[in-house]
This record gives sequence, structure tokens and C-alpha cells, in this order.
Amino acid sequence: MTWYKDWFGEDYLKVYPHRDEIEAKKQVDFVAKVLDLKLAKKILDLGCGNGRHANEFSGKGYHVTCLDLSSVLLSLAKDKYGSASCICFVQADMRQIPFANAFDSVVSFFTTFGYFKTDDENLQTLKNIEAALKPGGSFFQDYMNKKFVIENLVPYDSRQVNGFEITQERNYNRAEERIEKKITLKENGKVREYFESVRLYTLEEMKTLLAKTRLKLEKTFGDFDGSSFNSKSPRLLLVGKKEPST
Ligand SMILES: C[S@@+](CC[C@H](N)C(=O)[O-])C[C@H]1O[C@@H](n2cnc3c(N)ncnc32)[C@H](O)[C@@H]1O
Repeated sequence: MTWYKDWFGEDYLKVYPHRDEIEAKKQVDFVAKVLDLKLAKKILDLGCGNGRHANEFSGKGYHVTCLDLSSVLLSLAKDKYGSASCICFVQADMRQIPFANAFDSVVSFFTTFGYFKTDDENLQTLKNIEAALKPGGSFFQDYMNKKFVIENLVPYDSRQVNGFEITQERNYNRAEERIEKKITLKENGKVREYFESVRLYTLEEMKTLLAKTRLKLEKTFGDFDGSSFNSKSPRLLLVGKKEPST
């Protein structure tokens, strides 16, 4: 099975318990400021996972559509946050986003990009963000800093979390420019294995992809503290707008 169809379920949440509502609140506060979201009403959270960011946006009064491929994560998001009247849920692949000119903003958190084998498929995601946005609408993408990831790669680690042993093996596949990870969970003598494989794009490479769309990059940041992006930044945060129609 394709890695991202297999991995993003309940075990994914067990490996990342710190990717929680507290972190989401700080990130959403930051994004609401940098995107100038005062007038924005409709937001698409692309690859929303368990809905932690959508819930924060909804709390600020925005109407949020949570889109994700994982029925497990969408169902958890619905159970937890579905009673909030301003969130709706859509199961779809980011290569086929079923919206056109519908949103004031499209946001995507925690490296929900670069999952596909070909550059064309990854570009298709950007083209779909463009299509889903109203002209002049804004986008925000929280992605990895390629140089930082390669230089700080930890090949192996293992930890105990809530009764699980979680082992992660990481590798930079230079030929394909992908960061690859094998995740092993051991629980009560049972072993489950998952894989991740994400294409790493530099800022320049992201600019080349964006130049093939009507998404205009306006700002970058190196993390959610608002620091400017440089080669040592832990993250690459991209902020911009869909060009208004001519
Ligand atoms: C790293 S998680 C981030 C989740 C969420 N944004 C967060 O910060 O908690 C990536 C998310 O993208 C979703 N995803 C993976 N492949 C997808 C695809 N092809 N189309 C749409 N969503 C996908 C996963 O199910 C998962 O929820």
C-alpha cells in the first residue's frame, strides 16, 4: 500500500503526541496574523489530520473545511470537533481537491507536501490549492527546510511513549532527494511497521514549482516564532496569494 495511505491512522498520532492542541493554538495565532485573515471567512485546512488546527480557526470565527485522505483521522476529527458549527469535513486526495474559487485561505501544517513520487504530482497539489482559492486569496504552507533536515538527520532513535516502544530509522535518499523513514511500534510483543518518504524541495525549488501556478510567494519564515528563513532554520514557512484575475 502507498505509504501515506497506510501510515496516517491512530499509530501516527501515538508517535506524535506532542503535535497537539497547544502547539496548534500557537501556530494558528501566528498564521492568522501573517495571512492578514481579518476578512477571511472560509478556510481550507489541507491535510487536516485530527483537526487540531481547524478547531482553533473555528474558535476564531472562521468557517473551516477539513480535507484529508485518511478516514481514520477525519473520523477522529469529527468526533472531537464536529459539534463546532463552523467545521465541515471532506475526504479527498490533495491531487484532486474538489473545490474551485471557494476559499479565502488555504493552509497546510506539518509537512503535508512532497508525498508523491513525481514532481508533477506534487505540483498538482499546488495547482489545486490555486484552483480552490478565490482570486486574491492567501495560502500558508508549513514545510521542511531541506538543508536543515539533511544536516541534522538522526539516523536512528528509540523511545518509550505510553507503553509503546517507538523506533525510527531515517535516511536521506540523495538520488531521489527524499527523506525516508521507517517507523516501528512495539506494543505487548506485537510489532507494526510504517514508512514515510517525502520529497525535499529547497526554497528555490519551491519557487520554481510555484512559478508554474498563479500562487505568488510573498513571505517566508524559518519557524513559527516569526524568524526569517535561512539555511539553519528548522522550518520553511511559505506565505502568499493567488494572483487576482486580470
Ligand atoms: C503530517 S500529517 C499533518 C496533519 C495535520 N496537518 C497536523 O498538523 O496535525 C499529514 C496529513 O496529510 C494527510 N494526507 C496524506 N496524504 C494525503 C493525500 N494524498 N491527500 C490528502 N491528505 C493526505 C494525512 O492523512 C495526514 O493527516
